[in-house]
Amino acid sequence: MTTNLFSFSLLIFSLTLLFLTILYSEKLYKIDRHENEIMSININFASRLSRSTPRWYQVVARKMNRKKIKIGLLHVANGSFSEKMVYEEEVEVVNILFEPVSKEVKWNDLFPEWVDETLPWDSTRCPYIPMPQFDKYDDLDVVVANVPCGEGRRGRGRNYDDVLRLQVNLMVANLLVRSGRKNVNGIDDHKVFAVFGGSCGPMWEIFRCDDLLWHEGKSWVYRPDLGKLKQKVLMPVGSCQLAPPIAEPGQDGRDKAKEAYVSVLHSSEDYVCGAIALAQSIIRSNSTKDLILLVDDSISTKSLQGLKAAGWKIKHITRIRSPHARSETYNEWNYSKLRIWQLTEYSKLIFIDSDFIVLRNTDEFFIYPQLSAAGNSRYVFNSGFMLVEPSNCTFETLMRQRIKVASYNGGDQGFLNEMFMWWHRWPTKLNFLKDFNLLPNYSMHELIPQDVYALHYLGFKPWMCRQDQDYDCNWDVPENKRFASDSAHRIWRQVYNSMPSILRVHCVLTPEMEARKRMHIATMDFNGRFGRKFVDNL
Ligand SMILES: *[C@@H]1O[C@H](CO)[C@@H](O)[C@H](O)[C@H]1NC(C)=O
Ligand SMILES: *[C@@H]1O[C@H](CO)[C@@H](O)[C@H](O)[C@H]1NC(C)=O
Ligand SMILES: *[C@@H]1O[C@H](CO)[C@@H](O)[C@H](O)[C@H]1NC(C)=O
Ligand SMILES: *[C@@H]1O[C@H](CO)[C@@H](O)[C@H](O)[C@H]1NC(C)=O
Ligand SMILES: *[C@@H]1O[C@H](CO)[C@@H](O)[C@H](O)[C@H]1NC(C)=O
Repeated sequence: MTTNLFSFSLLIFSLTLLFLTILYSEKLYKIDRHENEIMSININFASRLSRSTPRWYQVVARKMNRKKIKIGLLHVANGSFSEKMVYEEEVEVVNILFEPVSKEVKWNDLFPEWVDETLPWDSTRCPYIPMPQFDKYDDLDVVVANVPCGEGRRGRGRNYDDVLRLQVNLMVANLLVRSGRKNVNGIDDHKVFAVFGGSCGPMWEIFRCDDLLWHEGKSWVYRPDLGKLKQKVLMPVGSCQLAPPIAEPGQDGRDKAKEAYVSVLHSSEDYVCGAIALAQSIIRSNSTKDLILLVDDSISTKSLQGLKAAGWKIKHITRIRSPHARSETYNEWNYSKLRIWQLTEYSKLIFIDSDFIVLRNTDEFFIYPQLSAAGNSRYVFNSGFMLVEPSNCTFETLMRQRIKVASYNGGDQGFLNEMFMWWHRWPTKLNFLKDFNLLPNYSMHELIPQDVYALHYLGFKPWMCRQDQDYDCNWDVPENKRFASDSAHRIWRQVYNSMPSILRVHCVLTPEMEARKRMHIATMDFNGRFGRKFVDNL
């Protein structure tokens, strides 16, 4: 009893000291509103031990049947408090020091427009983000951290809070993965928890909404799926270099039967031929995955028969309007793509727009985590070819946020780039953007690299040109010359020519399509939010 009283007073004393240290430490986050939140976490500890336990602690304790709970508290380095400050019968609190990432580092440095893809993997190529000394903290049950909000794309990649936010998320993730792995021996299901303080919660790209146990006010409790979290900590800190293949195929415990390619057709039949040729090209690449096609009710029975014959499994959806697109524009219903997250019978999907042709087998790319994609321009990815992990709560979050969150181009790509700011870079040969805008002369339009996996037919689609010649009709319109390439057109025609005639009949250019082709030019919105020309899959 006396010992308890003594340790209790010691605890109160230490916490007061900590409180004061934090209050007067200039280094701590250097952002006032976050300091307050960290302090409240510490005060919560005090109140727990005086028997009004903080609610998040109750949540964690209820989920664990262990005598002693070891909690790691993340703090900025060079604080004056001792490392192991509090001992108590059930709770051990370890202060984990870290050095905040340099103010020089901006989001744009982590997500550059361009990387040299020929260079070998080298972790020093990305900006340095300090981490705690992990080997000292590899037996934690809970990691508690305060996490700043960041500004997202509104900050235009120049806001320091976004980088600090990423650092805190990555630290917590790394600590949990290490502790989870260490303690797995002997204990069947070692559960580790993350507790975040702050009004925004953690980055959902790292701490999945599926793993959220409890949230109230400024406290968030997660019990992460450690397998998935581990995949993420093995990714580069940003898209500042290519994502490495994270495990040998078959060794990462994933269920390959639950992986599929998916595409979406909505609003008109314009892309039916494209989707048929796409399916045929994937099959020709010897893929072993399911091909899932989401369609709305604008696709006729006749077209559905063709699509099925081409290899697609059809699923019917209700299309989703983009709240940020003008009506009657090319991207008005592009949020229909969000429905891919509802395919929860699959664990991973590679989404491919219907204006692609796959030239080489891409099945090995299912090894990457969400969200992996090739770059577009600036620090955004192109949403025409990407890996996603279906999840109902992810879908619901996207649906909820689509009203609030802007989209730089009114389409899904702008929105998804707001939502998945932390993405993993695939090589451009996985999504070769047929846009030659910056190339000095037209003959260079014909140089499609040999090792391209998937070709993205920007501009007029090949099936909208005449099928009896190797001529790309993008040459015909000044605005579209940037997309023109007879070589690319020829590649598409090879797939088309190898298709049986029952599939080819779906590739007849109708007068309605011809009219819409003209409309696409009229409504094209090239001007991105950053006052720069953006290319989308028009
Ligand atoms: C902490 O101290 C070390 C060595 O004294 C120094 O290099 C580092 O910059 C300091 N970190 C911070 C956040 O001040
Ligand atoms: C698919 O497999 C066949 C038969 O094994 C092979 O001839 C062909 O080259 C493969 N295609 C690709 C794109 O790898
Ligand atoms: C939006 O959907 C339309 C119709 O399917 C398609 O033509 C266009 O490429 C899509 N745009 C974007 C930005 O995804
Ligand atoms: C997702 O929601 C759908 C529809 O409500 C449901 O059928 C499905 O089982 C859910 N998936 C998971 C993994 O909970
Ligand atoms: C255009 O590019 C081709 C292929 O790179 C090159 O051979 C040719 O000399 C270039 N022409 C001019 C006028 O620069």
